[in-house]
Parts: sequence; structure tokens; C-alpha cells
Amino acid sequence: MSETAKLILNGKEYELPVYEGTENEKAIDITKLLDQTGYITLDSGYKNTGSTKSAITFLDGDNGILWYRGYPIEQLSEYASFIEVAYLLIYGELPNAKELTYFQNSITQHTLVHEDMKRFYEAYPTGAHPMGVLSSMIASMSTFYPEAQNPNRPFKDIEMTMHRLMAKMPTLAAQAHKVSIGHPIIYPRNSFSYTQNFLNMMFALPTEDYEIDPVVDDALNKLLILHADHEQNCSTSTVRIVGSSQSNLYSSVSAGIAALWGPLHGGANQAVIEMLERIKADGGNTDKWIEKAKDKNDSFRLMGFGHRVYKNFDPRAKIIKKACDDVLNRLGIHDPVLDIAKRLEEVALQDPYFVERKLYPNVDFYSGIIYRAIGIPTEMFTVMFALGRLPGWIAQWKEMVEQGEPIGRPRQIYTGANKRDYMPMPLRG
Ligand code: ACO
Repeated sequence: MSETAKLILNGKEYELPVYEGTENEKAIDITKLLDQTGYITLDSGYKNTGSTKSAITFLDGDNGILWYRGYPIEQLSEYASFIEVAYLLIYGELPNAKELTYFQNSITQHTLVHEDMKRFYEAYPTGAHPMGVLSSMIASMSTFYPEAQNPNRPFKDIEMTMHRLMAKMPTLAAQAHKVSIGHPIIYPRNSFSYTQNFLNMMFALPTEDYEIDPVVDDALNKLLILHADHEQNCSTSTVRIVGSSQSNLYSSVSAGIAALWGPLHGGANQAVIEMLERIKADGGNTDKWIEKAKDKNDSFRLMGFGHRVYKNFDPRAKIIKKACDDVLNRLGIHDPVLDIAKRLEEVALQDPYFVERKLYPNVDFYSGIIYRAIGIPTEMFTVMFALGRLPGWIAQWKEMVEQGEPIGRPRQIYTGANKRDYMPMPLRG
């Protein structure tokens, strides 16, 4: 007989089924709990709640393991291209040569953005944060492709929306940057790879080509792969929950971008660099800032440290730390904030406060230093994260639709006033 859990409530016993995943992770299935007992579970922040069964990403926080569709992140980031990984996440298997060509060609053919959308950029104020711009531009795409409104259309139509998103997001992101610095937009070039095209749109000028350094291209490829999926995190859960109301993929991804923006999630990469700069400007005294991070009366937190799931190390951070050293060395850059970051890590990893709470550098601790070395402005860091995460969001949305998941609608425990009667104004004093 398969394993079950027993729940005793007011002396009555209930048997709850246990579900086991392919890597032996276990869950108590409470889908019938309310009907059977009249009780719900309470779990703010969903720290113990599995919202879905998913075959996309496996993550073991205690052992620092991250796999996409069974492939270890260490292998993918070393040997694969971002486009191959995107295909793997979305379609479930690595592409063969024919499949890769089809996917690549389709994406290349859809990189242009409707010219009418250029006019939107004129309305944003100078200095508009590119995450706000990107989220709105992606939501706006649904108005240009109204056929995408119905997620129950044949797969070919849905697939076109997925390819359009993959193709146009780098164009929109680079355009948001160009507009923010008052430069003319650079159009996509079909002869470039996905990453080369993005770098060219970011850094070329109408009067001057941008020479793509293979080291930079490589680093970008790695960073995008490392960010491509991370199972049911805040932004991905947002994408799935928005999509569960049968809202279209553009709106779901736009909501995911908004969720990613926060400094406790993807916005941490921008917050890390700003923190490191602040520490540098303050004289570089890392001990002082570690003490601030530990002080419960001080709102300062060590950005880029800690993770909801990883309680040993974040395997992405390990790879990025090494990539950061490689890129800076190969580009001949000495960035003093890298020294500060390494000192902070060293001190924190020996400090009982961080050790006891199992706080380690996460993916964002070193990524900003690489982005900066390759010329990406700080405000664009979280946009870079969104570019990487896009195939993961698409894959998770697709899986949610294919599994026919019900609309996401958590419960609550009400803590407000008991019933009371309306009083007209004169009686309220
Ligand atoms: N600096 C100082 N203390 C911290 C930090 C930190 N970065 N992170 C957690 N703690 C402390 C908390 O104060 C808490 O202490 P307490 O038990 O004494 O109250 C304890 O560690 C547990 O922290 P929680 O906030 O309860 O953990 P949670 O899982 O809810 O949060 C999070 C995880 C949001 C990542 C948190 O560690 C954090 O704020 N980190 C900084 C922001 C960051 O880097 N975010 C990026 C995460 S990776 C990603 O989203 C891509």
C-alpha cells in the first residue's frame, strides 16, 4: 500500500494521500481537505505549499542541485546555447539539428517589433525604469496580436505567440535602453545569433557597428541559461496564476516581469550593485555592513544573500562567481566592488548569524558585476534576468494549460471586524 498521512481533528481521523515525485520528494495531498474536514491550511508565503506537479525543473535546496528537464545546470551552462536551453524547457527535450534550425529561424523571423509600438516609448518620462517599460510593452503586444487572446486555440497558434515573445523581448528590452539614453533605436539583424543580436541592439550606433567580443557573448549566454527557469518562484507562480484565469500569454508574462522587478526577487541584482557601491563610498568597511545586516532594528539586508529554497549553496552563484572572475580577467577589468563582494561573502560565511540561518550568496550576488563589465547599465540588470527567465515562464505557462489546471485562488483566514450595521454620518459623530 502506498504511503498515507493521518490527520486527527477533533478526535476524528482523516487519511490523506501522499504524492511522490520522480526524485522522491513527498507531498501530502490536501486537495480534498476542505470538503472532508471544513478546514483549510494556512501557509503565508507558501513556504510549505506545492502549487503544482511540474516536469520542467528539479531543485534540491539542501544539496544545491538544479536541473532543467533532468540536465544539470552545470552542463547546460558550460556546453549549450541559450536557444537550445529555451527549446529544452518549452518542448521538453533537447532539439535535434532540424528542430533547432526550425526554432532558431522562426525566432529570427519575428524579431522586428511593430512600428506603432515605437510611439509608446515617446510617452514614457525620461529615466523611466526599463522594467516598467518592458512589462507594459509586453502587455501591449496582446493588443497587436489579438488572436493570442484564446489559450485554447490549436498549438500552432499558441506556438507562434511563444516564438514572438522569444523573438521580440530582446528587441523591446534593447529599445527601452536606447530610448532611456536618448539614442536612436537599432533594428535587429537576422545574421546574428540570439545573444549577438541583443548585444548589437544594445550597443551599436547608427553610425558605428558594435564589435562583439566572444568573451562577452559567452558570458551573456551563460547568464541567460542560469536564469532560464527556477520552478515555482514568485514571478513564475505569478505567470501561472495569471494564466490560470485563461488570460493570454503576453499578459501572463507581463505580470511575471512585474513580479520579478521587486528587490527581494529579480530586482536583487540591481540592489546588490547599489549596495556594493554604497559600501565602497562609505570606505569599504564590510564588517560594519555585516553588523547592519544582522541588526533587527536596521532595515538593511545583505542583498544577494539568502534564498527561500537553497539552504546550502546556490549552484548558479557558484558558476557565476567563477564566470565573473573569468570575464573580468579576460576583459582586463579590475572592479573594486568585486573585492568588496568577495570580502562580504568571506565574512558572512563565517558569521554565526548567516551560518545558523543558512544564508549564502544567491544567483544575483555576482551577476551584476558581470553585467557591468560587459557595459550593461545597472537599471537594465533585472531586464537581463527577465530575458533569461522568459523561456521558463513560457514553459511553465504551457505546462499549466496542458495540465488543465484550475484557476489559482487561495483561501484566507479572516481577521477583520465581525458583522456590524451601517450607521449614517450624524450618528458616527
Ligand atoms: N540579510 C540579512 N538577514 C537575512 C537575509 C539577508 N539577505 N535574508 C534572510 N535573512 C534573515 C531574516 O531576517 C530571518 O531572520 P530571523 O529568522 O532572525 O527573523 C531569516 O534570515 C530568514 O529569512 P526570511 O526572510 O524569513 O527568508 P525567506 O525565505 O522568506 O526570504 C529572501 C528569502 C527573500 C531571498 C531573503 O533571504 C532576502 O531578502 N534576501 C535578500 C534579497 C535577495 O537577494 N533576493 C534574491 C533572491 S534570489 C531570486 O529571487 C532570484
